[in-house]
Amino acid sequence: MSKIVVIPGDGIGKEITESAVEVLKKADAKFNLNLEYEFKDAGGTAYDKFGMPLPEETLNACKNADAVLFGAVGGNKWDNVKAELRPEKAILGLRKGLNLYANLRPVKVIDSLVDNSPLKPQLVKGVDLVIVRELVGGIYFGDRCESEIKNNSERAWDLENYSVPEVERITKLAFETAKIRRGKLTSVDKANVLATSRLWRRTVNKIAENFSDVELNHLYVDNCAMQLCVNPKQFDVIVTGNLFGDILSDEAAVIGGSIGLMPSASIGELTSLYEPIHGSAPDIAGKGIANPMGTILSAAMLLRYSLHAEKAAQSIESAVEKTLADGFRTADIYSDGFNFKKIGTVEATQEICKRI
Ligand code: IPM
Ligand code: MN
Repeated sequence: MSKIVVIPGDGIGKEITESAVEVLKKADAKFNLNLEYEFKDAGGTAYDKFGMPLPEETLNACKNADAVLFGAVGGNKWDNVKAELRPEKAILGLRKGLNLYANLRPVKVIDSLVDNSPLKPQLVKGVDLVIVRELVGGIYFGDRCESEIKNNSERAWDLENYSVPEVERITKLAFETAKIRRGKLTSVDKANVLATSRLWRRTVNKIAENFSDVELNHLYVDNCAMQLCVNPKQFDVIVTGNLFGDILSDEAAVIGGSIGLMPSASIGELTSLYEPIHGSAPDIAGKGIANPMGTILSAAMLLRYSLHAEKAAQSIESAVEKTLADGFRTADIYSDGFNFKKIGTVEATQEICKRI
């Protein structure tokens, strides 16, 4: 028996995690995975119920689980909540609490969606890259000051810092990832300006000595942002810090046609967590039109990395691809005039289940 803690969170989180659990149940029936689910609150929903975004009980349940499936948190409803109680603190607290140091964000362009990208089809067809984002350090978790008066002006500050062990750990995982893919690693930093980036680059170069079979290059983050549009096929694995990885992964998501399709795995030393890279989309919450595929593909990553159920993972991934190839489209990827069948969250889930 494997225990999965499911955290729907806020906004569309409820709908998309429900979909992913449906799909997992279908895969379970077919591949005898013996999965068990426990649902827990986090985010604004937990704040409304308990006055805190990440109840102790939720964190403890995650620590005792084999894997965590997470929806999304946040929404303008909680815009005026104190900084330390904001819904986003739930996911940040889970990352820290479970020590989820590496976030894998694959961007694999599905053939039937090349025309959905704002980039030219010949640029995006065949793109298959993964961003390895450091997830528990950097400016996200450095000291900060919300407000202070200095020289008669109000100011705020956030401190970026990285230690050598923190960079070593993520770099090793990125090299290992590149080694079993196409053997190419791009490290992204801002070493022409930032001290943390210079330490990052030195550390990556040192680790590289143990991975002579992987080709390493370095890019500044501004150049990398441009290269992702100009020639995304040059990338195999990209390793970068927390903030740069956050920004570049949203950018890279559009290569594949919609952020709604993009999964992620946050790898920890014990439990790992899986979530789509998109947010809680409060504007479409409860309407039944959200694309559940990012969460469903995250569930496939869960089966692969936490439960080592590779066949079941692949069957979910190919069911998603077939559903798209057969012309089914949620609103985010639908366009008139192509004979597409427009579907909502529930129908998308059913079509995917049918193809497992
Ligand atoms: C993400 C999100 C989070 C982040 C937010 C919700 C705190 O944008 O997972 O990329 O910035 O890491
Ligand atoms: Mn983000």
